[in-house]
Amino acid sequence: MNKNKLQKGFYVNILLIYKTKTGFTKRYADWIAEEICCKKIPFKKMDTIEINNYDIIIYGAGMHARHILGSNKFKKRVKNLCHKKIIVFSTGASPCTKEIVDMIKENNFTENEKREIVFYYFNSGLSYEKL
Ligand SMILES: Cc1cc2nc3c(=O)[nH]c(=O)nc-3n(C[C@H](O)[C@H](O)[C@H](O)COP(=O)(O)O)c2cc1C
Repeated sequence: MNKNKLQKGFYVNILLIYKTKTGFTKRYADWIAEEICCKKIPFKKMDTIEINNYDIIIYGAGMHARHILGSNKFKKRVKNLCHKKIIVFSTGASPCTKEIVDMIKENNFTENEKREIVFYYFNSGLSYEKL
């Protein structure tokens, strides 16, 4: 299992789950996993993994019609893991402005989730030819 050493010898296990249709999110997932040295799996394998073994769970997916693809299923999967750190990122063609980030949070998270889930938005692009 990949272990990420934080400060003072404290090890944490980090899982990164990503859902991608045209490759943008996977590229971000690859960069993040390389940087923080974590276990990375595609969304379709989410149900095959023991999520409880991880301290930090990251979910990344593309935006579709203002929704983070697969995020409802992901949130259901981690619903009772309140002692875990949950991080979500999404990639989209919209510019990375405060208004866009606020709108995504509003459309995708409840008030509780907004407090508990750390969210990042990354600008990507549009690739209709890969759909
Ligand atoms: C049908 C469709 C709907 C989309 N809706 C949005 C959207 O609401 N907001 C946005 O910023 N980008 C939107 N995009 C752009 C994608 O979110 C963007 O290309 C994303 O990085 C795709 O991720 P993926 O390559 O990992 O699948 C949309 C793209 C498609 C094809």
